[in-house]
Amino acid sequence: MKFNPMAEPYKIKMVEPLKMTDRAYREKAMKEAGYNTFLLRSEDVYIDLLTDSGTNAMSENQWAGIMLGDEAYAGSKNYYHLEAAMHDCFGYKHLVPTHQGRGAENLVSQALIKAGQYVPGNMYFTTTRAHQELQGGIFVDVIVDEAHDPYNTNPFKGNVDLNKYEQLINKVGAKNIAYITIGVTVNLAGGQPVSMENLRTVYKLSQANGIKVVLDATRAMENAYLIQQREPGYKDKSVKEILREMCSCSDVATCSGKKDFHTNIGGFAACNDDDLAVSMRNMVVVYEGLQTYGGMAGRDMEAMARGMLEACQDHVMAHRVAQSEYLGNKLLAADIPIVRPVGGHGVFIDAKAFYPTVPQSQYVAQVLAADLYVHSGVRSMERGIVSAGRDAKTGEEHHPKLETIRLTIPRRVYTQSHFDVVADAIIELYQERDKARGLKMVYEPKYLRFFQARFEKI
Ligand code: F0G
Repeated sequence: MKFNPMAEPYKIKMVEPLKMTDRAYREKAMKEAGYNTFLLRSEDVYIDLLTDSGTNAMSENQWAGIMLGDEAYAGSKNYYHLEAAMHDCFGYKHLVPTHQGRGAENLVSQALIKAGQYVPGNMYFTTTRAHQELQGGIFVDVIVDEAHDPYNTNPFKGNVDLNKYEQLINKVGAKNIAYITIGVTVNLAGGQPVSMENLRTVYKLSQANGIKVVLDATRAMENAYLIQQREPGYKDKSVKEILREMCSCSDVATCSGKKDFHTNIGGFAACNDDDLAVSMRNMVVVYEGLQTYGGMAGRDMEAMARGMLEACQDHVMAHRVAQSEYLGNKLLAADIPIVRPVGGHGVFIDAKAFYPTVPQSQYVAQVLAADLYVHSGVRSMERGIVSAGRDAKTGEEHHPKLETIRLTIPRRVYTQSHFDVVADAIIELYQERDKARGLKMVYEPKYLRFFQARFEKI
């Protein structure tokens, strides 16, 4: 019998009850939260697709590891387990643990960016760009044009556009480029992967110009699985082999441990260069904690080490991506405008097409995320103009071409029936799309505004 990746490759041992609420309750909750799904109380949410970050279910083996936390200040045995797991899965020489991904982004940005230097990347990520800009770096998007088109079905919409990258090198000079960041997968493009061929070519071009390649390895295992499924020549290689090959096309990695590794907290920076490791280990004690814990408890490092090895198995990633595809295909069958192909970590709805009467200046994706919660208790996240924020120099709002809400799938948390409920809720809301009303922003924080901004109905 053929293996069905949608069937859970685990059984349920412990459950967390969900609260059912009615529309009037949710209307009040959403208004009090300033129409920002980040400001809702989680207990008021029925199905929580805000993020796949730290919201994953750990395995019995990870929970067993929690009891084996060595909470020594220095030299915890769990650090050495984490280091061994990182060597096995990713293959970098040096590990610098951090409390989560942005801690690693801070270390790498501080170590490698001189103010005024350019930092190309395959589309921005919020925290990554924020740390680059805090160091005086200038982010330049060098992703392929297809990534900005929700309906283009190129299987590798995360790829770097080599012409854009080369043009930047020729225009500003390699010495004015701090490094290139490559997100695998590209979160804000819809979880789109980068091909091995593209990684290899970018690495060659970068090496020829003395530019370091920094991999944002946050969802690198998903990227490896999508290479196995989509790129010629990889179908017989394991996720782990592909991951190691991806990392061999880079010099440095930053990683949020809260995604692929089925953990609730954690992260790391990794590199091959001895001097860079020394410099990051020197800074980690200022910002995170000693170099053998980096802001994590020993038990958290153990859960991450075990989760890393577990997640790197082909059938685990196959199930992970099958859940996204299941939800995506249900929505496609009902003609809901979603970003295609369906990405690794969730489904992104094209809010401009869903609500054509609400302009981007009235935060159409923010409206859709709020309406979906009020309609059904399902929580999603805005990934559009609010997330994109303002230009660091001019203060003008960025206007991203992709204005989406993200239905992000926590790992091992929800079942097929939950995804059926989510799809039905979205299909019902689409039928009422003429009723949608825009929002105005009434509070805007200075940094990463999407987390805390507040809105009112126009
Ligand atoms: N890079 C990517 C691609 C991410 O998706 C995230 C986090 C980070 C870096 C930062 O890691 O949160 O551990 O500090 N993404 C979460 C999300 C917040 O919801 O997509 P962190």
